[in-house]
This record gives sequence, structure tokens and C-alpha cells, in this order.
Amino acid sequence: MRKKVIAGNWKMNLNLQESISLISGIKNGLRTLSSNVEVIICPPYTSLETASTLVKNSHVKLGAQNMYFEESGAYTGEISASMLKSVGCEYVILGHSERRTIFGETDSTINKKIHKALASGLLPIFCIGETLDEREKGITFDVVKRQVVEGLKNVDTENMKKIIIAYEPVWAIGTGKVASKEQAEEVHAFIRKELIALYQSDVAEQIIIQYGGSVKPDNAVELLSQPNIDGALVGGACLKVDSFLGIIKAC
Ligand code: PGA
Repeated sequence: MRKKVIAGNWKMNLNLQESISLISGIKNGLRTLSSNVEVIICPPYTSLETASTLVKNSHVKLGAQNMYFEESGAYTGEISASMLKSVGCEYVILGHSERRTIFGETDSTINKKIHKALASGLLPIFCIGETLDEREKGITFDVVKRQVVEGLKNVDTENMKKIIIAYEPVWAIGTGKVASKEQAEEVHAFIRKELIALYQSDVAEQIIIQYGGSVKPDNAVELLSQPNIDGALVGGACLKVDSFLGIIKAC
């Protein structure tokens, strides 16, 4: 049985004071929830160090939303894996569709980031997913397969076990248009099949595959009850205590 993993991607939202108040709300709410769900929050860089202090000795784990693949140097505006480690991050989201579409990240850049994160002891949350145009052209499976194969190039079995995959159809992100449980499960099962082809099936069966794209408390139960949906990567609904806890309760 795979555990459920719920991660909140705060994106470019919440200043330091707002971050502190959201984290204390989440921590208070989780106290009354007997939960074997893994909860990860991914605040903006400016809140990470404080967040790390606040989540110490709680169930909440800390992640960042991005990083660069070089160790250090003249890369103005970038953040390295070891910097994230030094402020207490365990996870890092890589290859989010907003990074791919707005900031031009390619499968090969994302692959380099995955290798650097793993080598630095960070656990990647590796995002993949098709655009509306790609879905309408009937090439969803080709796109997802390419992203999996290129993104995971040269990742060995032991490292693969440390990666969470987040399937996020781009047309469902921030649009309120959630994929139906059948649409989501179909792609999740396909991703698991690809992982079986790349790694052994005992490894593929252990990998957490999250769904992301307009997940809310009222659609979480049906999505999370699908056999290959092992959690959620939540954007908009993770910025409010009640809706984030509602999704955790759905598990
Ligand atoms: P959303 O974002 O929940 O606001 O659709 C999900 C994500 O981008 O990870």
C-alpha cells in the first residue's frame, strides 16, 4: 500500500507574515487529525527559513518550488540545491508546467535539475502533463511518455525510489477545470506502466504519483480513491487553511 502525499505549491504568493499565519493554521489543524498522510508545503524562497523553524517537530515537511542545477557561481537570481538544504528543505518541485511554459524549461534542463537535487539529498517532486492543445490533438500519452523518459534519463533504480511524480494536465491548473477521475486515472495508470518498462515493477509500484490541477476538498475524495492516484499537488486551495486541511481530510 502506497501512502498518500499531499503537497501545497504556494507559487508566488504570501509574504513572510502571511506565510507564518498559514503555517500555524495548518499545524493547529493537523493536531486534531490523526493522519498517516504525508503533508508537504512549498512556500516561496523568502519564507523557507522561517517555515523550516515553524514545522520542526510537526508532521509537515518542507519543499521549495524550483532550483538551479549548478552548484554555485554567476547565475543571478538562481538558488542552488545546497542552499535549499541549508534552510531545511527536504523536497523540491521540478519541471512545473509554469516553469516549462513561462520560463522555457526543457526536458533536458529538468533532467539536470533532477540529478542535482538527488545528488544533494533533496527529494524531487517531478511534474509532467499535457496542454489542452496536446490533449485535443490526441497526443497526451506521447507527451507524458516523452516527459517521463527524458526527465528521468540516467536516473538509477535507487534514486527513482526517492522521486514523486506529479501528473498535472496543464489545462486543469488554476482553471477550475479538474480532470475527471477517469481521465486522471487513465494517465496515472499509463505513467505507472511506463515506470514498469523503465524500472522493475516492484519499484514502479512504490512510486507516489500525485494528481494536480484544481484539486479542492470537494473533488479530492473521488480523485484520491483511484488506484493509481497517490496524493495531490495543490495550488490555489493550499493557500487557505480550511481548504488545504479539507484535502488532507479527504485522504
Ligand atoms: P491549482 O495548481 O491547484 O491552482 O490548479 C496546481 C499546481 O499548479 O500545482
